[in-house]
Amino acid sequence: MTRIVVVGSINMDLVTLAPRFPAPGETLTGERFLTIPGGKGANQAVAAARLGASVSMVGCVGDDAFGTQLYDGLVAEGIDVTHVTRVAGIGSGTASITVAGGENQIVVVPAANGRVTPAHVEAARETFRGADAVLVQLEIPRDAVEATLRIAHDEGVPVILNPAPAQPLPREWLAHVRFLTPNQHELATVLGQPGDTDFRELMRLAPCPVVLTRGAEGAWFCDTDDTPHHQAGFAVEAVDSTGAGDTFNAALAVFLAEGLAEAVRKACATAAIAVSRLGAQGGMPRADEVAAFLETHR
Ligand code: RIB
Repeated sequence: MTRIVVVGSINMDLVTLAPRFPAPGETLTGERFLTIPGGKGANQAVAAARLGASVSMVGCVGDDAFGTQLYDGLVAEGIDVTHVTRVAGIGSGTASITVAGGENQIVVVPAANGRVTPAHVEAARETFRGADAVLVQLEIPRDAVEATLRIAHDEGVPVILNPAPAQPLPREWLAHVRFLTPNQHELATVLGQPGDTDFRELMRLAPCPVVLTRGAEGAWFCDTDDTPHHQAGFAVEAVDSTGAGDTFNAALAVFLAEGLAEAVRKACATAAIAVSRLGAQGGMPRADEVAAFLETHR
């Protein structure tokens, strides 16, 4: 069984469905409100677990009611929470999300996610050992991300770094990354390049292999050669794109043993299914659903 370690954020998503996005200063009547577990780290952990991987999560929740729900939710998905720390005196991370017309707007308050330290990651070193992949994003402090890259490198475990929310990163960090998985805007930010630089040029400038997501257009990828290859997206009716990138990253890690091109194809399919359903973790499919989808979608 594929074994994956995820180091990252754990949020409660406060989701409002609205007929459209409000203008500044405007009040709108929404259609529905839901609380759904989210956070880029937890989303990737849940998506990987649903696809059949054995998953360990490293992160922090607060000592509030959300913290209990988030922790219990990870346990219910069969995820190892040995290295999920409950931090006293602070709330859990939240994301206020408005969904309208299949698109979203998100405001994240990190709260306990800001308390993830290099020491937390170091405490999970044994868990890294022998894992097939480590997944990490940028919703936790930079020093914890750096510790993740260092420890994974020490232990010889490939890292998939999803640079979201984007920030410039040192090239030495990227040299330790097996795959960087940005969208075009994120890749430009990570590399400190103008946002309108052609994405294929950005992929060539990166000091590590890149799998670049393009929403409904699918993904571009390159490995040891410098030639970007394209995987077309799968057409679905978009209900909620929240967590689509997280689902993509998890599937990429789970299916990587089948080769990069096949892993990207399956990651695009898995993300397409997630987009056709409501909620980040609400929409993540199981492996048999992905197989059935691929039978009927080319
Ligand atoms: O990537 C989607 C996630 O980003 C949401 O679940 C939300 O929590 C924010 O962290």
